[in-house]
Amino acid sequence: MAVMTIAAPSPHRARARWSWAWITFSAVAVAAYFVGHYAEGSLQSLARSHAGLAATYAVRPWPIQVAFYFHIVFAGIALALGPWQFAQRIRDRHIGIHRAIGRAYLLAVLIGGIAALIMSPFDSIGMGGFFGFAALAVLWVWTGWRAYRAVRGGDIASHQAWMIRCFALTYAGVTLRLEFGVLTLVQLPFVHAHTDISALTANAYAPLPFLCWLPNLVIAEFIIRHRGLPALHLSATQPAAA
Ligand code: HEM
Repeated sequence: MAVMTIAAPSPHRARARWSWAWITFSAVAVAAYFVGHYAEGSLQSLARSHAGLAATYAVRPWPIQVAFYFHIVFAGIALALGPWQFAQRIRDRHIGIHRAIGRAYLLAVLIGGIAALIMSPFDSIGMGGFFGFAALAVLWVWTGWRAYRAVRGGDIASHQAWMIRCFALTYAGVTLRLEFGVLTLVQLPFVHAHTDISALTANAYAPLPFLCWLPNLVIAEFIIRHRGLPALHLSATQPAAA
């Protein structure tokens, strides 16, 4: 009698599935919570209840307020859509869905990124925030553009590598909020009766315009190398052809 055995997934595959599940859950949760937050009222009413950054943008000129709303809606869409592009099952069985989500994702990156670039000189923390967020916005749109160009040229390996970089930058929307929580918590042991709580949160926020995305890009490059995809080379000389 023939015995059918079902192979258990390798530890590597199981780890990859758990990582994907965590990234998808955290991305969708952050997109839903933070975008939903700003749908609860006007910027003025949210500013009165000290919600998020409403107080900063409620006093900005109207074109900046429009950019703010465009940013949170389209960046939220990119964050919620991005993880599905890495689901191999969708790529293998429903390539039409992969293409449709991919187009919507890249359009959301383009609009969310341009809006972020317009807002960044008016951000809540001045020059440091401007440089960090503006660099992120430019790299975000550029990596999305490279991913699009690669797939149009039929270079699937480069497309995958650029999509990993692009989504690592999109995921800054999650890492910023996690890092903000951690950097606020680590200061708590030093809190005393006269501690100014707004100084404490300002301390936690100050490094985030860079810290929310630079580590993500480094991790993305490790993943790209690990998967044997075309990695970035820092040397001026090209590696010899095999
Ligand atoms: C990856 C490129 C991104 C750039 C360049 C960027 C840029 C910015 C900038 C400059 C601000 C204002 C910060 C300040 O005034 O201190 C901001 C706020 C915001 N961004 Fe993004 N962002 C990006 C990704 C995302 C993603 C993926 C989401 C999805 C949830 C998102 C949602 C928001 C929200 C909700 C705010 C309002 C602040 C808050 O309440 O936390 N951003 N972003």
